[in-house]
Amino acid sequence: MRITLSLIKADIGGYVGHSESHPDILAKANECIAKAKKEGLLVDYHVTKCGDDLQLIMTHQQGENNEKIHKLAWDTFVTCTEVAKKLKLHGAGQDLLSDAFSGNVRGMGPGVAEMEFEERPAETIITLMADKTSAGAWNMPLYKMFADPFNTIGLVIASNMHTGFAFEVHDVKEHKKITFNAPDEIYDLLVFIGATSRYMVKAVYHRQSGEIAAASSTQRLSLIAERYVGKDDPVCIVRSQGQFPAVGEVLEPFTLPLLVEGWMRGSHHGPLMPVAVEDSTPTRFDGPPRVVALGFQLSAGRLVGPRDMFADKSFDPARHQANEVADFMRRHGPFEPHRLPLEEMEYTTMPEVMKKLEGRFINL
Ligand code: F6R
Ligand code: MG
Ligand code: MG
Repeated sequence: MRITLSLIKADIGGYVGHSESHPDILAKANECIAKAKKEGLLVDYHVTKCGDDLQLIMTHQQGENNEKIHKLAWDTFVTCTEVAKKLKLHGAGQDLLSDAFSGNVRGMGPGVAEMEFEERPAETIITLMADKTSAGAWNMPLYKMFADPFNTIGLVIASNMHTGFAFEVHDVKEHKKITFNAPDEIYDLLVFIGATSRYMVKAVYHRQSGEIAAASSTQRLSLIAERYVGKDDPVCIVRSQGQFPAVGEVLEPFTLPLLVEGWMRGSHHGPLMPVAVEDSTPTRFDGPPRVVALGFQLSAGRLVGPRDMFADKSFDPARHQANEVADFMRRHGPFEPHRLPLEEMEYTTMPEVMKKLEGRFINL
């Protein structure tokens, strides 16, 4: 059975500030999506949140980039924005960059990760959702899952993974894409994906079969809007088990609270803390950035689950380390590398300060 899994998200208003989603928003989204399931458009769905982002996890048989599915997500965000406006939530409608839907939510503000595949006899799926960071945050975890034998021993000792995986990388500034084969081309691959603000892993494929293994959202809101409209707060879908990394190999990269772009005012580097959904409440300096992982088994498209994967106690040390790194980074205040380089900050006063000081700069 061919199934499409669509994970579409948007920040349409935060409670309190940018720290969390309001229960009324989640309830309204559930109502909208349940109706679409009843009408037969969806096979199944799960509505959740990560921090201030509303997450719609949907299964259907309409394929990727389907207008009806994207319109359902868009209309749900618009309806939920009305609730957010009534409650005067912070940043109501923040991620909806256009007034009217025009066939596809890509480029309109919401984040999208989608994949279509033939459901396996046992189809294990991990959905990853992050808040207060940008899409480049998945580069290192995806590299570790699909190319690093110190993380994924299956690459070495499982014959169905031994041929490796192919990485589709997008240059979000030049709007170009390229595919690298791992392990053969990992040195070339790393030259690019180590630059997480520009090059992003969009998808990963199992080389032997060509099967889709992972898909991420690469929307960069600031590039779309050409002004500050919030970090992208990206999502990612990973297929697991069999010829794909095992659940433990998918989650293992997050034992390192890697430094990512985002955090306060989208203008800082900070550690990515793996947490349960209920702990995705970034409140310390609007952070530190969070990642949640919901796992499902698919049964003819039905989402059996979720299991909240980072609720596990074995991620306590990563959380502890993230808090320590957060303290360490915070002590740098407005200095790099805590604060992002000038061109990457989402907020800046540089043009106005420069203008004010015009004439006071003297050639050396
Ligand atoms: C970062 C984020 C927050 C806000 C900050 C200021 O992605 O969402 O850190 O940037 O709270 O928010 P505004 O400008 O909406 O008052
Ligand atoms: Mg927000
Ligand atoms: Mg957010």
